[in-house]
Amino acid sequence: MRTPLVIGNWKMHGTLAEARALAGGIREGLKRPRGVQVVVCPPFTALAAVAEVLAGSPIQLGAQTCHHEAAGAHTGEIAPPMLVELGCRWVLLGHSERRKEIGESDAVINLKLRAALVHGLTPVLCVGETTEERRQGLTFTTVEGQLRAGLAGVTAAQVGKLALAYEPVWAIGTGVNAEPSQAGEVHGYLRGLLSELASKEVAQAVRILYGGSVKAENVDGLVAEPEIDGALVGGASLTAAGFTAIVKKAARVGAASRE
Ligand code: PGA
Repeated sequence: MRTPLVIGNWKMHGTLAEARALAGGIREGLKRPRGVQVVVCPPFTALAAVAEVLAGSPIQLGAQTCHHEAAGAHTGEIAPPMLVELGCRWVLLGHSERRKEIGESDAVINLKLRAALVHGLTPVLCVGETTEERRQGLTFTTVEGQLRAGLAGVTAAQVGKLALAYEPVWAIGTGVNAEPSQAGEVHGYLRGLLSELASKEVAQAVRILYGGSVKAENVDGLVAEPEIDGALVGGASLTAAGFTAIVKKAARVGAASRE
């Protein structure tokens, strides 16, 4: 059985004081999260401070992206070993905001993903279709293309070490989440592709998270879907109360589905 995973993506939010307070509140609210794994991804500037606040707690630290090289002349970029040094164990890759705003291609995302694996970071590969792609009936084609390109050259054993996030672009930050069954269908499709790309066993072990307007009020229905193994949460991860409520619900639904 897959342990539910809930990741908070803080995006470009938070002064140091705010980041410390948020991390402290989450730590306090989730003293012993059982049956769920929890990760927070603060902005780069707050990673060290949040690492300090979370030290000794089960809540893990992740980054929102990384460069694919270990060092070099890349102004403004952050290398995987720098993140590892700060205590990061996870890294989000291919988030739709980076694809759209920074122009990250599938090929670049693939380089980053392979570099993250080499340096011991767990990548969370994000895929998802735009409104237009869904309207044109291209949802499956889009996510399949992103998955295949993102995982090019990755071994079956390495596939077993990462997580996926299905984040329909039209659901991110809009308040309109995908219907659980609608997301579940895409998750099932992605898992089928993982079976083909790696193996059935590996595909069964990989967590596929849903992201896009997840909040405490809708997380139950989403994680009750057998193919949805947790959530990647943006806006609702910015308050300790909101995020901890989501984590607790995901843990409860996960435990119930294992019974
Ligand atoms: P949202 O963002 O929860 O604010 O919709 C999710 C994400 O972009 O990861």
